[in-house]
Amino acid sequence: MRKQIAAANWKMNLTLPQAEQLLDTLLAEAAPSGNRQVVFAVPFPYLSMAQQKVQNRSNTFIAAQNCSNRKNGAYTGEVSAEMLQSLDIQYAVLGHSERREYFQESNQLLAEKLNISLEYGIHPIFCCGEPLQVREQGTQNEYVATQLRESLFHLSSLQLLQVVIAYEPIWAIGTGKTASSAQAQEMHAFIRQQLTEKYGEQVSSAVPILYGGSVKASNAAELFNQPDVDGGLVGGASLIADEFKAIIAALK
Ligand code: PGA
Repeated sequence: MRKQIAAANWKMNLTLPQAEQLLDTLLAEAAPSGNRQVVFAVPFPYLSMAQQKVQNRSNTFIAAQNCSNRKNGAYTGEVSAEMLQSLDIQYAVLGHSERREYFQESNQLLAEKLNISLEYGIHPIFCCGEPLQVREQGTQNEYVATQLRESLFHLSSLQLLQVVIAYEPIWAIGTGKTASSAQAQEMHAFIRQQLTEKYGEQVSSAVPILYGGSVKASNAAELFNQPDVDGGLVGGASLIADEFKAIIAALK
């Protein structure tokens, strides 16, 4: 069975003491077992602290929320995949809709970021998903297929197997408006079908596809129980220990 992942996306929240406290509370629970994983995508300055806390814990990983498309050099303010690798970081969230919208990240730029993270052994959590007006026009499948084609489909099968996909409809992020479990399943099945057409069944059936957008304790189990929903990328609810604990417990 493919990996089932509860990924916390803290975004630009929490001071260092608050971050440590939240992690300590969550890490006091039993570690996930089997095919289940927990990932914490923390702000850059906390990566080292967080990595130290999880290093001896099974199935628990730290993610960066971004990484540069450049290898190294005079790019003030950027953080490279090589730096993440040197901290032993295993994952990086790439192409979150907030990065696409506020920092003009294009599908092409994201293809470069995927390449460089894979080169340094970082698993990309690649985000895709349509804005509200696209959903209203009913063209969300074409929209997401273009994101996949332009950012992912140059990868080899072996590279794709290192990637986690997160489908996050933009109209559901931070709005309290979750996609219904049927809407999530429909898009996840569509994404998997696109992967199957390009890479074949064996590869596509191994790639985890997370749902993101107002996942909370009260809706996680219903979403995660859909056959093509392999967990969630969770923003707001991941900042509340009891909410995130319940979300972890809802993994298949
Ligand atoms: P949300 O954010 O859970 O607060 O909607 C999800 C995300 O942006 O990854």
